[in-house]
Amino acid sequence: CNGTKKEVRVWCDGCYDMVHFGHANSLRQAKALGDKVIVGIHTDEEITKHKGPPVFTEEERVKMVKGIKWVDEVVLGAPYVTSLEVLDQNNCDFCVHGDDITMTAEGVDTYHLVKSANRYKEVKRTAGVSTTDLVGRMLLLTRNHFRQGSAEYDIEKEGSSNMGQDSAAKSPWTGCSQFLPTTQKIIQFSDGKSPQPGDKIGYAAGAFDLFHVGHLDFLEKARKLCDYLIVGLHTDPVVNSYKGSNYPIMNLHERVLSVLACKFVNEVVIGAPYCVTEELLDHFKIDIVCHGSTPIALEDGKIDPYSVPKMRTIFETIISGNDMTTERIVERIISHRLEY
Ligand code: CTP
Ligand code: C5P
Repeated sequence: CNGTKKEVRVWCDGCYDMVHFGHANSLRQAKALGDKVIVGIHTDEEITKHKGPPVFTEEERVKMVKGIKWVDEVVLGAPYVTSLEVLDQNNCDFCVHGDDITMTAEGVDTYHLVKSANRYKEVKRTAGVSTTDLVGRMLLLTRNHFRQGSAEYDIEKEGSSNMGQDSAAKSPWTGCSQFLPTTQKIIQFSDGKSPQPGDKIGYAAGAFDLFHVGHLDFLEKARKLCDYLIVGLHTDPVVNSYKGSNYPIMNLHERVLSVLACKFVNEVVIGAPYCVTEELLDHFKIDIVCHGSTPIALEDGKIDPYSVPKMRTIFETIISGNDMTTERIVERIISHRLEY
């Protein structure tokens, strides 16, 4: 032994359709079991064969997984039943999957080969979040009774008394979430690093609801303009005030974890003010404020939330080059008429 320990390469595979923080949490746990995480992603064709067409294309799914900070490599075209060959081809020691049973269309355990070769480890599946659950929340948006009259505004007024007990509250934004947020989870997702002296500090604010490829492309470009990127997340009532209907689909805590899992993000402000203020800029020593090319809603219909950074000439518009939006995801789900 020359004293250099062999690198442990961990294999994870799956559909990674509508990537959410549950997927990220499984990859985080996988990373803790080794040195490198290699993620095998099934093709659209393979998924269609076993469980029907995915909502997102393989290009989009690959991009989303590559954006997760615990992922080192991504391989498209992983077989539905994990084989020893695919582990060997990618120099992986073992395979990691959440503690739920997954089957092929024929009812075969997709991990039976790696299990019998003792090259399988299990991590805890994140309770309270799944593609099925998110799709369910999106379909709720289409129900008319949620939009009738001024109901959403009435609920909004009640909203403040429900804050802090999101999982149980009967608010339109948070009432359906079954996920129990804890400080432990936030600590696990955070890298805990402060900016270094001399770092150029960037700031981007928004809803970042149903964290998607458009957000990812935007944040990648924003991060290129700075050394340390802080994302400000608006509260659920604020997002609801400018998106209307039943938005956001994910509550603030869920959005925090989704954004923290992104490799371009260093820090998150939980419940950022809608208007970027002098105090916020000075407090975080922000050098540059970014927004994409999507429209900017004015506060009370008249105040530009970026007037202060614009006055300081530190405001930058970023062209993400991606036209994905949270609303488009909802449209896709509805037009797919997916049966989950
Ligand atoms: N996973 C998890 N927690 C969740 C959802 C998924 O730990 N709430 C894990 C799965 O156990 C698996 C990996 O994420 O190891 C990717 O699997 P994938 O096939 O994409 O996930 P699904 O089980 O289909 O998840 P979902 O129903 O949310 O799409
Ligand atoms: O709409 P939301 O508040 O989630 O957007 C967060 C940030 O991401 C905004 O600056 C928005 O302009 C940007 N974005 C983008 N390209 C997309 C979607 C969002 O640049 N396709």
